Amino acid sequence: MDASLAVRARGIAKYFGEVVALDGVDLDVAQGRIHGLVGPNGAGKTTLLGLLLGLAVADSGELEILGVPVGRTVAAVDGVAGFVDGPGLYPSLTARQNLAALAALRGSGGRPAGTEEALAEVGLGEVADDRVRGFSLGMRQRLGLAAALLTRPRLLVLDEPANGLDPAGKRDVHGVLDRLAADGTAVVLSSHRMDDVEALCSEVTILATGRIVFSGPPAKLAAESRELDYRLVTSDPAAARRLAAGTDGVRLVEGGAARYGDAVVVVRAAVPALDELVANVVRSGVAVRELAPLVSPLESAFLALTESQEAVR
Ligand SMILES: Nc1ncnc2c1ncn2[C@@H]1O[C@H](COP(=O)(O)OP(=O)(O)OP(=O)(O)O)[C@@H](O)[C@H]1O
Ligand SMILES: [Mg+2]
Repeated sequence: MDASLAVRARGIAKYFGEVVALDGVDLDVAQGRIHGLVGPNGAGKTTLLGLLLGLAVADSGELEILGVPVGRTVAAVDGVAGFVDGPGLYPSLTARQNLAALAALRGSGGRPAGTEEALAEVGLGEVADDRVRGFSLGMRQRLGLAAALLTRPRLLVLDEPANGLDPAGKRDVHGVLDRLAADGTAVVLSSHRMDDVEALCSEVTILATGRIVFSGPPAKLAAESRELDYRLVTSDPAAARRLAAGTDGVRLVEGGAARYGDAVVVVRAAVPALDELVANVVRSGVAVRELAPLVSPLESAFLALTESQEAVR
């Protein structure tokens, strides 16, 4: 037993009849860390999060949550909060009443301490007295997070928490998760948004058809030297195009102009060749105004890993 780990899973398997949803999954999540689960549809992310929440039990393997070994009976461990498949809310109650009702169910009285703070933290202060029936997907997600915050969890489990959030909502939720982690709460979340995962998570686990294909810091994955497509904006696109065509290891990607406009040159290169190109451009007296990968390095690595997994099957 390791008390500094919020989650310690070894060789977890979960079957639904013939379907192998999880196949020998290991997972370590330390206190105060935000861990991202990513993977294609059906990879097993929600299944794994459900095990952490005590909504189901594994068919085999060992699972310890907050230092407590989880047995073969379905039960939630104290100190764990979160939701899968969207938060359970009462549509006919207001946001504030929903939080009060959840607190009452947990036996902490009708007006729980922290309700106002939780509503404000997720940006729902203004609509606290509106019925949840009229809430958008993003507003429901925010309220679900507020409900989880009320319990002051030491492990927070969230299935696609950024789903449906507008940019302000995303900023609010990222802020909340960062603060929780700074206070020592472990967060395990799933996401299909690699930019969110890169911004939030210190560690990621990539699942594909129930198996782990990568686990570690996103930077480790991104650093693997691979060619990526970059958009390059300069003071002289024609010159940039000419220089790109003349730099070893750099290829011009056709069709970039149609998609991004004439000012943008799209090139495919690994980092050393890209460095060479930028030096050439600047040496020619052309200014570099923007240089960014078209898809994030994590997304690109993710696609490559899951595609090679497909090939193996
Ligand atoms: N209750 C269930 N009954 C039968 N099969 C299930 C059940 N829950 C999940 N599965 C199967 O287990 C596998 C993993 O599903 P899971 O929902 O965990 O994937 P996911 O990674 O969350 O996918 P998504 O990105 O689409 O949310 C899938 O093949 C799914 O069909
Ligand atoms: Mg899912």
